Amino acid sequence: MVRWIIIIVSFAVCAAAALSLTIFKEKIKSAFYIGHMERDERVNRMQVEKIIDRLRIAPGDIVADVGVGTGFFSRKIAPRVSSSGKVYAVDINRELLNHIDRGNRREGIENIQTVAAVENDPRIPHRVDLIFICDTLHYIDRQQEYVKTLSGYLKSDGRIAVISFKANWPPMSNKFTEKDLVRWMSNAGLELADSDNFMQDEYLMIFKKK
Ligand SMILES: C[S@@+](CC[C@H](N)C(=O)[O-])C[C@H]1O[C@@H](n2cnc3c(N)ncnc32)[C@H](O)[C@@H]1O
Repeated sequence: MVRWIIIIVSFAVCAAAALSLTIFKEKIKSAFYIGHMERDERVNRMQVEKIIDRLRIAPGDIVADVGVGTGFFSRKIAPRVSSSGKVYAVDINRELLNHIDRGNRREGIENIQTVAAVENDPRIPHRVDLIFICDTLHYIDRQQEYVKTLSGYLKSDGRIAVISFKANWPPMSNKFTEKDLVRWMSNAGLELADSDNFMQDEYLMIFKKK
C-alpha cells in the first residue's frame, strides 16, 4: 500500500514539474516574441500609423484583428472605433491572449475583447465591419477555405484588409502571391476595393463584397 502511495505521489510530482516547465518555457517564448513583434525597427519599417489611417475605421465600427499576436495593432485600432465600437483580438495562442487581457486590465482598455480561435476558424462572436489580418495568412493551411470562412463573418458592407509579404521577402512554406490572394477573395465573393504599396516589403490590400 505504502509503495503504491509513493509511486502515485512521485508520478504526480513529476507530472506537475513537467507541466510547470512547459508553462515556464511558453512564457519565456512569449516574452521574446512580444519584444520581437513590437520592436521599433518593425514599427517604423511598416509605418504603422499610415496603415491604421488607410483602414478608414469609423467610431462605432466592429473590427476583428485576426492573428492578433501581441495586440499591437488592436491597441492602435481601439481608439479609432471609440467606446461605442469594439475590437475582437483573435488568436490561437492562449499565452498571447492572456498578455493582451493583462494589458487591457492594466491600461483600463474596455473595447478590446480577446477571442480564442481554432486553426481553421477565427470564431469571431459577431459580424464585423472590418477584418484586419496582418502577417498571419501565410501561417494558415488551406488559405482558400479560410478566406471563405472569414468572409462569412463580415457584415454586408464589411471589408477584409490583408497585409502580407511582397515577393522579395525571404521564402516561407505557405507563401502566396498577390494574384493568389485576389483569386481566393474572388472565389469567396469579394473584390479588391483598395490597395497600397507604401511599405518596402509588404503590401496592403482591402477587399469588399462584390
Ligand atoms: C506574425 S504574428 C502577427 C501578429 C500581428 N498581426 C502583427 O502583425 O503584429 C502571427 C500571429 O498569427 C497567429 N496565428 C497563426 N495561425 C493562426 C490561426 N489559424 N488563427 C488565428 N491566429 C493564428 C499566431 O499565433 C501569431 O500570433
